[in-house]
Amino acid sequence: MSYLEIRNIYKIFGPHPQRALEMAMAGDDKDSILAKTGHTVGLSNVSLSVERGETFVVMGLSGSGKSTLIRHLNRLIDPTSGEVLFDGTDILSMSIPDLNTFRRAKLGMVFQRFGLLPHRTVLENVAYGLEIQRINRTIRHQRARNWITRVGLGGYEDSFPDQLSGGMQQRVGLARALTTDPEVLLMDEAFSALDPLIRADMQDELMALQTELHKTIVFITHDLDEALKLGDRIAILKDGMLVQVGRPEDIILSPVDDYVRAFTRDVNRSRVLRARSLMTPLSLPCGQAVDAIWPQVQSDMRLEDILPVALATNGSIAVMDQHEQPVGILTRQQVIDAISV
Ligand SMILES: Nc1ncnc2c1ncn2[C@@H]1O[C@H](COP(=O)(O)OP(=O)(O)O)[C@@H](O)[C@H]1O
Ligand SMILES: [Mg+2]
Repeated sequence: MSYLEIRNIYKIFGPHPQRALEMAMAGDDKDSILAKTGHTVGLSNVSLSVERGETFVVMGLSGSGKSTLIRHLNRLIDPTSGEVLFDGTDILSMSIPDLNTFRRAKLGMVFQRFGLLPHRTVLENVAYGLEIQRINRTIRHQRARNWITRVGLGGYEDSFPDQLSGGMQQRVGLARALTTDPEVLLMDEAFSALDPLIRADMQDELMALQTELHKTIVFITHDLDEALKLGDRIAILKDGMLVQVGRPEDIILSPVDDYVRAFTRDVNRSRVLRARSLMTPLSLPCGQAVDAIWPQVQSDMRLEDILPVALATNGSIAVMDQHEQPVGILTRQQVIDAISV
């Protein structure tokens, strides 16, 4: 069983969801259900598993159901039908006190509009989660200061949110979420309100933190470049339905339909595709087909870094795994073709 599991979730918005639910279960789409019942389909038969330590990105156009999905994970909304399991526990059967304890202990949330308390300083905002947990002031301020420094805001402890830029406010939001040491970070369009350069900085910051922290992150975005950069895996929603789940390179190399293809059209493939997704795998584990004089690349190397190696050879390239064992073969032509699609 995976760490987080969503099973066959349907969410119908409206006063009498039953008929709309039956239609959704029969496979009717969002538009026809709205036309016939006046009810909005938020999610329709969505099942997903997220592994511990994974950065899982949910992507889709506005209105596709992304926020509805993430709100099921902290149970801000209940499904019309379906299950939500957290480390094997059914969170839909939790009592309200248990649910509150669970949220405080396990979940950290980062919101698009930062959600900072305006009359509190940066330090007090970041320490807020610990204050709710009744951790004493000295300890909570100590931990909060530590995270403020980690996100690059050392020196701003006594500032108020409106004295900070958007990017800095979101660093406060991130520090606040991390200060309670949650297992899971839920981030709903957390960087979408930021200017492109600041946004790229925040993405880098999050990735740097994640290499150390190994949180389970569910990150929502409508931006494919952001999804491809951050996601170990990406789920794509359309009109409340899940259309594809896969690693970034799966999405780029094998989009399941025109909706996904439209997202992927302008992507810089050389930043996404890796040696392992292009290589011809070796059928034998010890790789008798690889010649010791071939240049070598690591299986997780990106196409942009493989290209110079490919251009410098006339023949083949050996693809090696993390134990220095050959796992596949790439040719110069394969690399060039992959870039110029
Ligand atoms: N509380 C609500 N009441 C009625 N409809 C809602 C509510 N929340 C979301 N919806 C509808 O559900 C669909 C999915 O919304 P949402 O999850 O917010 O999409 P996204 O986050 O991908 O933009 C939309 O059609 C939206 O209008
Ligand atoms: Mg949303």
